[in-house]
Amino acid sequence: MEHTENNAIYTAGYRCPSNIALVKYWGKKSGGVQLPANPSISWSLGDLYAATTVKAMQKVDGQSFVFTLAGESKPSFEPKIAQFLSKIAADCPWLSDFTLFIDSENNFPHGTGIASSAAGFGALGMCLAHIEQHIHGSSDLSTQVNGMDFWQRSSYLSRIGSGSACRSMFDKPAVWGLAEAVDGSSDLFAVPLDGDIHPNLQGWKDVVLIVDDGEKSVSSTAGHALLDAHPYAQARFGQAQKNLGLLVLAMREGNVDQFIAIVESEALQLHAMMMTSLPYYVLMRPNTLAIIEKIWSFRESSKLPLCFTLDAGANVHLLYDGKIDETLMNFVQTTLLPYCKNGQYLCSETGKRPIAIL
Ligand code: DP6
Repeated sequence: MEHTENNAIYTAGYRCPSNIALVKYWGKKSGGVQLPANPSISWSLGDLYAATTVKAMQKVDGQSFVFTLAGESKPSFEPKIAQFLSKIAADCPWLSDFTLFIDSENNFPHGTGIASSAAGFGALGMCLAHIEQHIHGSSDLSTQVNGMDFWQRSSYLSRIGSGSACRSMFDKPAVWGLAEAVDGSSDLFAVPLDGDIHPNLQGWKDVVLIVDDGEKSVSSTAGHALLDAHPYAQARFGQAQKNLGLLVLAMREGNVDQFIAIVESEALQLHAMMMTSLPYYVLMRPNTLAIIEKIWSFRESSKLPLCFTLDAGANVHLLYDGKIDETLMNFVQTTLLPYCKNGQYLCSETGKRPIAIL
């Protein structure tokens, strides 16, 4: 962080992971700003990240921000950022005095269906929370701003950009939304799950099998909105609440079979909600199902600790205990690669923290 009294320049930079939900956020509460209809829990994907820097300077030409993607201007990203900054304006009155020079870059390709908004808004929220701390005259990140510490505030601001982004800044499993099973959980920001996770469920990894790298036919934001009038919405929200409690218990006790059952059921419930929305839609592709079936038969024959999950798209996340890395990658190469678009897949560890880069 650079702070010069005379020309008041504040800078911050973070490398922030994407994340994959184990219990899914799908549906928003009415009447709030980006509040989840049910609690969710995720693992961060440390090797799939956005690296973002923000420089705040005394307002230049009335501009609220200048955005570049890896140093190049990118007008198509500007409306989303403008909308985000206007949504947080009342919460961050200091913004009106500054022009923000935002540069961001993902280390994974755009348009692969990986949650780039989770990493991107995660990193941006962290940068803004950091700058805000300094504007409030504190270089100590544990200082509270608006009743929140740095991590809570980062998560809070990121949430307003994209709900799932608020879970990106923790090395422990991140819980977002009021969860009966998790003390201190909140709709406003995510919290790291406290207490011990059993070694059986630590050190898991994710291979993202890219089935489709095109634009999704229905965006997540539009998909959430369809839950407002969904005939099964209340039952789904209840299931998520229950599944979160059971998943936390499985993670504490090291019950891998129970973990797998909940994670896979959550993925299929998410897509079942899409298929039963009005209008209904299907984001899975034939190769999504082919991969799921291969994963099931490989697990059946090998008895190895692995499972799949899906986000709001056709790609399959293959989660597995990092101890079986070699066997798993062999399975991916020999069996799953033919179902991936142009043989594309991405690998990541789970449970890594963001890194300050300035
Ligand atoms: C299916 O966070 O992308 O990935 O809040 O409208 O930006 P907005 O939606 P977004 O929704 C992600 C939904 C999900 C499940 C999850 O990550 O929990």
